[in-house]
Amino acid sequence: MSSSKLPPRFVYIAIVLLLSLSFLISVTAIEDSDDIEELIALDEAEEEGGGTHHPRPSSEAEMLTKAQRIVLELNNDNTQRAIDGNEYVLVLGYAPWCVRSAELMPRFAEAASFLNELKSPLLMAKIDAERYPKVASNLEIKGYPTLLLFVNGTSQPYTGGFSSEEIVIWVRKKTGTPVVRINSIDEANDFLKKHSMFAVGLFDKFEGSDYDEFVKAATTDNDIQFVETNSPQIANILYTDDKSNNPFLGIVKSEPERYTSYEGAFEKDKILQFLNDNKFPLVTFLSELNSVKVYSTDKLQVYVFAEADEFRKLLEPFQDVARKFKSKIMFVFVDIKDDNLAKPFLTLFGLEDSEDTLVTAFDYKTGAKYLLESDLTPARIEEFSLGLFKGILPPFYKSQAIPDNKGADILTVVGKTFEDLVLSSSKNIILEIHTPWCLNCETTSKQVEKLSKHFKGLDNLVFAKIDASVNEHPKLQVDDYPTLLFYPGANKSNPIKLPTKSSSKDLAILINKYLKEEARDEEHVVKDEL
Ligand SMILES: *[C@@H]1O[C@H](CO)[C@@H](O)[C@H](O)[C@H]1NC(C)=O
Ligand SMILES: *[C@@H]1O[C@H](CO)[C@@H](O)[C@H](O)[C@H]1NC(C)=O
Repeated sequence: MSSSKLPPRFVYIAIVLLLSLSFLISVTAIEDSDDIEELIALDEAEEEGGGTHHPRPSSEAEMLTKAQRIVLELNNDNTQRAIDGNEYVLVLGYAPWCVRSAELMPRFAEAASFLNELKSPLLMAKIDAERYPKVASNLEIKGYPTLLLFVNGTSQPYTGGFSSEEIVIWVRKKTGTPVVRINSIDEANDFLKKHSMFAVGLFDKFEGSDYDEFVKAATTDNDIQFVETNSPQIANILYTDDKSNNPFLGIVKSEPERYTSYEGAFEKDKILQFLNDNKFPLVTFLSELNSVKVYSTDKLQVYVFAEADEFRKLLEPFQDVARKFKSKIMFVFVDIKDDNLAKPFLTLFGLEDSEDTLVTAFDYKTGAKYLLESDLTPARIEEFSLGLFKGILPPFYKSQAIPDNKGADILTVVGKTFEDLVLSSSKNIILEIHTPWCLNCETTSKQVEKLSKHFKGLDNLVFAKIDASVNEHPKLQVDDYPTLLFYPGANKSNPIKLPTKSSSKDLAILINKYLKEEARDEEHVVKDEL
């Protein structure tokens, strides 16, 4: 199958790069302030001022300050004691200048406060890895922020989400409370007020193999809160839809598709698969908080890029489409005005400056990307999604407009002309593959110019170049720039890589050698044919 090589890793790296770039920019702005608490205080002040979307009542801010005190500050003296003396310790390694650490810290503190109320056996601690580098390195803290859970002195990486609620859910799963038992109607109502998404199990008895598998699934899963009850009345409050299965398992979300019941056998892996297929809403709104979770799903994905107002109009029809592909395709909305989130994707289509609504798709198994070019009606989006599901959409490859090469010594090749000018041509081609940002591309370009002059008049040799940042072709798989390829005229399937660090003279000698070999091969072919 042909596909543009766009491994999910690449998308992910691109996104991480862009995100860290924006972080870097904001870091430089606050570089002078090396006190993390100051940063948090600043954040809170901003939030209290109502400047951001979640004005925080001051009582909550007070709670947060108190919560920060619940988090133990590790140093050279107390770290070993803390790790050895507690069954469970969750350690946050941070650096004072790291903005992502600063963002995480109040959430971490808030989680500490919740866990404290819940009488969790966990100790939450943080370490300034810059001030105590040796301690941090002993704990194997390598980047910032790092979260590690120590169980009886042995660490495991943190795999949960990064809101305070998600931290609490993950920690409880790994510290002996994978499932919350709901014992009364009041508890159920109270739980509902606090949780909009959870998995609920109704069992006659909290024992037996079905129940054990349910608990195993709860422990293995990283981000969904599990609750259990043996009372049909309590279950009715948590899950008002049909519950005819016994035992019963269902997932609850805050959206039109509120209830989904599990129909399979109670086996850990099957339960986890069901949750994975159903945990996302019909349409997920991409945010910095959920982006890692969204990028790491292995499902087909359809993305809509639009302004928030525009999307509000599209949401219902889009949800209707999403419902038809439920658990097969993940539907994601990205605010096109949010550069950090939208740009890395739009760049993949050469549409980074677009302000119009766009629909794209990704198949993370093959690495292919797709673009719905026009007419974004619900019917077209449904057709597009069906094509994606069936694997019959034509993949998208970036290409600049076809340039006029009249009189040029070096042909400019674009995505759309690569087939004609390189693969189908009977001539020997030397192709320079460059990008605007690559360090040594200019040097190589100059060499190629020199070489093209040197070989000028040689009828069977063509010099060409392609800007790989804006042009793609399934048969052009290069990830190192600059790259120089020699395509023998008789056989374009295996181009030969030329060294880009040689002198022009050495390159000329090498090209001559290949041209001679090629001529000999052609002779052979001709003789064989005779
Ligand atoms: C930690 O060690 C204690 C004492 O040896 C033991 O009772 C406990 O089960 C251990 N905890 C875990 C989660 O293994
Ligand atoms: C082209 O080269 C490849 C690998 O060297 C070889 O497998 C293939 O048969 C060649 N094709 C032709 C038409 O000579």
